[in-house]
Amino acid sequence: MNSNFKRHLITAALPYANGAVHIGHLAGVYIPADIYARYLRMRGEDVRFICGSDEHGVPITIKAKQNNCTPQEIVDKYHLIIKDSFERLGISFDIYSRTSSAIHHKTASEFFKKLYTEGKFIEKESEQYYDEQAKQFLADRYICGTCPKCLAEGAYGDQCEKCGSTLSPTELINPKSTLSGNIPVMKSTSHWYLPLDQYEPWLKEWILEGHKEWKVNVYGQCKSWLDGGLQPRAVSRDLDWGVPVPVDGAAGKVLYVWFDAPIGYISNTIELMPNDWESWWKSEDTKLVHFIGKDNIVFHCIVFPAMLKAYGDGYILPENVPANEFLNLEGNKISTSRNWAVWLHEYLDEFPGKEDVLRYVLCANAPETKDNDFTWKDFQTRNNSELVGIFGNFVNRAVVLTHKYFEGETPAALNCLAIDDEVLAQIPILKKSIEDNLENYKFREALREAMNLARLGNKYLTDTEPWKVAKTDPERVATILNISLQICANLAIAFEPILPHTTKKLRYILNMKTSRWEEFGNISILHPGHKLNEATLLFEKIEDSEIEFQIAKLQATKSANEVQQADTSPSTTPPPAEPLKIECTYDQFSQMDIRTATVLEAERVPKTDKLLKLTIDTGLDIRTIVSGIAEYYSPEVMVGKQICILANLAPRKIKGIESKGMILMAKEENGKMKIVSPEERLENGSTIS
Ligand code: 2FM
Ligand code: ZN
Repeated sequence: MNSNFKRHLITAALPYANGAVHIGHLAGVYIPADIYARYLRMRGEDVRFICGSDEHGVPITIKAKQNNCTPQEIVDKYHLIIKDSFERLGISFDIYSRTSSAIHHKTASEFFKKLYTEGKFIEKESEQYYDEQAKQFLADRYICGTCPKCLAEGAYGDQCEKCGSTLSPTELINPKSTLSGNIPVMKSTSHWYLPLDQYEPWLKEWILEGHKEWKVNVYGQCKSWLDGGLQPRAVSRDLDWGVPVPVDGAAGKVLYVWFDAPIGYISNTIELMPNDWESWWKSEDTKLVHFIGKDNIVFHCIVFPAMLKAYGDGYILPENVPANEFLNLEGNKISTSRNWAVWLHEYLDEFPGKEDVLRYVLCANAPETKDNDFTWKDFQTRNNSELVGIFGNFVNRAVVLTHKYFEGETPAALNCLAIDDEVLAQIPILKKSIEDNLENYKFREALREAMNLARLGNKYLTDTEPWKVAKTDPERVATILNISLQICANLAIAFEPILPHTTKKLRYILNMKTSRWEEFGNISILHPGHKLNEATLLFEKIEDSEIEFQIAKLQATKSANEVQQADTSPSTTPPPAEPLKIECTYDQFSQMDIRTATVLEAERVPKTDKLLKLTIDTGLDIRTIVSGIAEYYSPEVMVGKQICILANLAPRKIKGIESKGMILMAKEENGKMKIVSPEERLENGSTIS
């Protein structure tokens, strides 16, 4: 435990209040953050765990229009659902507030005002689409038209949902305002920008030199942004929902949601501790850690720190930002709009009393280093085989046998054999490993080690078979049960941060009053004569029928999506298999020299969003290829990958860089590109025909 810090300020990404919370959010952010906060509290550390709803932004206004209500009504509804479901799952926030609160508006507004007054922003005019009938500028989502890539109708100004392409509003063919249906006009508007480019040298030093210990995915994403060169970012929008820009003449403009949301961490802390909040945000004694998902990395590692740096006044920066990757569901990306999700509030209603099963499975399966998949079958197996079969089974046997042979009183361990000493010696080793993992944000591994303690106890009881010597050797039975109960008591501590509902039950069964972390490792927590309560089951088996119900529910969602797609796009081609190109001869095909190659180096092409410059080993030479894959692959992911290239494509210059060849890519149904690689690694330069 790093004792240099007096306080721990833990934040979890503020969820958007335009939908409920799902398992992807939980596995990525809230369960790890909660485990960390609970662990530190158990260690006696001074902790504040801050969260709240993110209640601004365009999607909320769109949802309100769709529902014929106000944005405030939307956020009121979801704020309550989210807050209540977090509480039921046992996420132990010290405050869960919201960004539509007066205190947040005041804090965010004052934050902007100080930066504005001190000249920290630049003001720029740009041309944007404007609806003359609705008399408002149009956010990207308020413009639709024909997709320039796949020609589908109904593409939005930022994305075509048919082919998945990222778009800008001016690329749309026949753009229309979704507010009036009219053709929008271009009109000049001015906004304030945070000149991130000015903070680039400082950010490079702070992150790339100062935080090499950050998770590889986080550090890698930051490096790639910083190497690509930062641009000024607009911090205001033309919109009527949000924190109004506090500047004369800025009517109709609000702070960009990604400017005000992170300030929500500060305003929520102010709400929690109006008199003391500054010692939490402006003291080097505070360790600030942001828990987020990977899509939030740039905002928490680059934009928010630059905002705090610009503000000055002693604000601290995060010590760490342990972002997770994404959790998929039954092999598909979780999607709020397509309802492809397991919603927390529904889970809690459908699996009453099984909060910790979800906590367990999502922690065991957390996407800490790569995207992972949640399946209902795995959920069932982990419950039935691990929680019921190992943890629950061990505790139950230990307590039931103590009632049977010692009337529920902890017996004394009289003389230990080698097997007993070996088991006891494992406890401090596991404790150290659990601690190290928790402190390094490796929650899956911490959980695995905690389960290893349960496995150890279960195996010990099975190996020593006290029921067989009960009649002949009561002293031996006493020793075995004493040791088993001490393991149970240690389990009640080890699992407390991860499975708090279960450890509460376990502490009741063991009649244990406290669970301080420093007691973990003690092998005489329960003294001889200590009376236990009756044994009750910690976990219950989950039947096939319950899992089948959940799978059928998802299947119904899938079918409904398919029907909806067919219904809503009668006039457009469904995301098509691309039409066959004109016939080519074998000779034409054989002129193409397609080979395997390996990426040696990769970097973003500065001032572009889509291009990576790759140095590759073709087996024939080392050459450069510029490829438009930056939206789908980060440079770090590319290095070391074996790819297939068209090696004899005529060289051409892209952004001033000579590119020799082309990488073969496959286009998914949604327009996303995936690299084509050989099934197994081959020699570079192997020909493909
Ligand atoms: O991605 C999201 O869900 C955002 N609402 C997270 C905001 S985190 C913070 F900055 F408030
Ligand atoms: Zn399209």
